[in-house]
Amino acid sequence: MTHFLAIETSCDETAAAVFNDDLRVLSSVVASQTDLHARFGGVVPEIAARAHMRNLLPVIDEALQKADLKLADIGCIAVHHTPGLVGALLMGVSAAKALAFALGVPLVGVNHVAAHIFACRLAAGRDIYPCIGLVVSGGHTALFHCASPLSMTLLGNTRDDAAGEAFDKVAAILGLGFPGGPAVEREAAKGNPTAYRFPRAFFDDDRLEFSFSGLKTAVLYACHGQNAKPSQAPPADAKRADLAASFQAAVVDVLANKCKQAMKKTGLTRLAVGGGVSANKALRHKLEEMCIKQDAELHIPPMELCTDNAAMAALAVEKWKLGQFATLDLDAEPNFI
Ligand code: KG4
Ligand code: ZN
Repeated sequence: MTHFLAIETSCDETAAAVFNDDLRVLSSVVASQTDLHARFGGVVPEIAARAHMRNLLPVIDEALQKADLKLADIGCIAVHHTPGLVGALLMGVSAAKALAFALGVPLVGVNHVAAHIFACRLAAGRDIYPCIGLVVSGGHTALFHCASPLSMTLLGNTRDDAAGEAFDKVAAILGLGFPGGPAVEREAAKGNPTAYRFPRAFFDDDRLEFSFSGLKTAVLYACHGQNAKPSQAPPADAKRADLAASFQAAVVDVLANKCKQAMKKTGLTRLAVGGGVSANKALRHKLEEMCIKQDAELHIPPMELCTDNAAMAALAVEKWKLGQFATLDLDAEPNFI
């Protein structure tokens, strides 16, 4: 039995997890930096990197303690090394390299986006490949043909903002604070999703592409008029709830429709969804409805595996089995794919 220690620092969560080569997760610890970034209305890369430096060793200690293991029991180090904020990624990558070198154990670099899909495999407790993978987070909105855990072909991507980024920006327009996703979801629950008919980009288009920046602007104009400035005071409560609900409905409609199109195009009947936005209950509900209608199998992990965490880096086990180890020149790679 080999014990893995995994590290995640791609954005604003410092996380560590311990799992075994049979994919049993023994511990998963996440230290959020939300409070540090809230007053800026978004993640400040330099602040994120510095906070990772402070938080990483205590988070690793806690993950080991919870797993009832010591560093000497660890047989492999895994780290999300791509994609993400380069300074933030570097913190995790440097720590992982130092640990692997000091312990004399293999190092495995893991793609954070592939790991979001692998979170579905972890939660399912059985093979879920081949499947369509939808990654919807603060940094990504993309559809993949996932032939296996390590073989993903990009089917479509966002042309501008990611869905989570749109949630965060709309939250700022509506004066709902940061992080935006959960705040918009709470506000939307009080509103009417058909009050405003917001644009649904590429909806009737064959292409598996997304665009959310026009939607964000439409919310801004509906909120404050055509001469709007994003920093204007938020609207009154009832209007705010309707705007949040109508915005959320537009995002959810588009995401569900593109997943349906991707399954039709590829003939695949399994959908795996990952990333922070998949914590959204309206999205989960819509995808459930769509998959029942399409006679498809839906996999969305529990909340703690949707948002950033290190347990999903258990994808490293697949690489480890194939002997796909990283060398000590493993680098942080900020770009997607
Ligand atoms: O996967 P994640 O934790 O980090 C990235 O890799 O980006 O995703 C964070 C994103 C943020 O934009 C956040 O607003 C969004 O996920 N999010 C949500 C919800 N919870 C988090 N969006 C909509 N509804 C939610 N409940
Ligand atoms: Zn993520």
